[in-house]
Amino acid sequence: MANEDNKKLRIAIDGPAGAGKSTVARFVAQNLGIHHLDTGAMYRAMGLYATEQGINPQNADAVRALLPNVDIRVEFDGAGKQHILLNDRDVTNALRTEEVGNAASAVAQVPELRALLRNAQRAVGERYDIVMDGRDICTEVLPDTPHKFFVTASARERTRRRMRQLERLGQTANFDAVLADILARDRQDSRRDAAPLRREPDTMMIDTTHNSVRRAVERILSAIAEREESGKIKEES
Ligand code: CDP
Repeated sequence: MANEDNKKLRIAIDGPAGAGKSTVARFVAQNLGIHHLDTGAMYRAMGLYATEQGINPQNADAVRALLPNVDIRVEFDGAGKQHILLNDRDVTNALRTEEVGNAASAVAQVPELRALLRNAQRAVGERYDIVMDGRDICTEVLPDTPHKFFVTASARERTRRRMRQLERLGQTANFDAVLADILARDRQDSRRDAAPLRREPDTMMIDTTHNSVRRAVERILSAIAEREESGKIKEES
């Protein structure tokens, strides 16, 4: 779409746990024919590693002490699917449990980890046209892109979606327990000192509580097209 002039197209999507932002981001990327990076998977890889090492993920000093031994990399396969390599081991299929999600939210509070992953994410953005989703993409990772979106939904709707996702993965889930997890994660993600989840005024709000994923994707695609067009007009004048 926008790379005739060698400028990369970078689209930033943030939002709380279970809002459907990764699904929306994947469709937006598919539609534009570009890559999608789910940055949460990188934090999940660190959450997995801390758990495997028998470390309490809430213990910031212990997490920090692990960092010199950790290498988290992203690769895209021929079909464009993202793979997360944790010390050269492909852990992509081990990341989607609630336990790993909760550990991810805990280790994500450590600024040194955030700095490492943010650098890796920016490097991916230098290399590819990309849609990135996470918690701090609009505010920290890609603050210069004009394409910023905040995808959210009510906590109960997010719980229902998370339950369906877990059930599809063959995991059993209890509504109240998943809701409690979502609320705890919201609190932890928005109150932490390091790059908390927040929406700035330049970021377009997409509330999917009563809207389908398809509608969210359409709104995002038309906002991108509009801004690309007005950017071109400004450059020409
Ligand atoms: O899928 P879900 O939205 O529940 O979580 P995720 O996107 O896989 O991210 C897992 C955790 O990583 C989140 O709860 C955040 O605490 C953290 N995270 C972050 O701090 N910054 C990002 N850019 C992405 C994820």
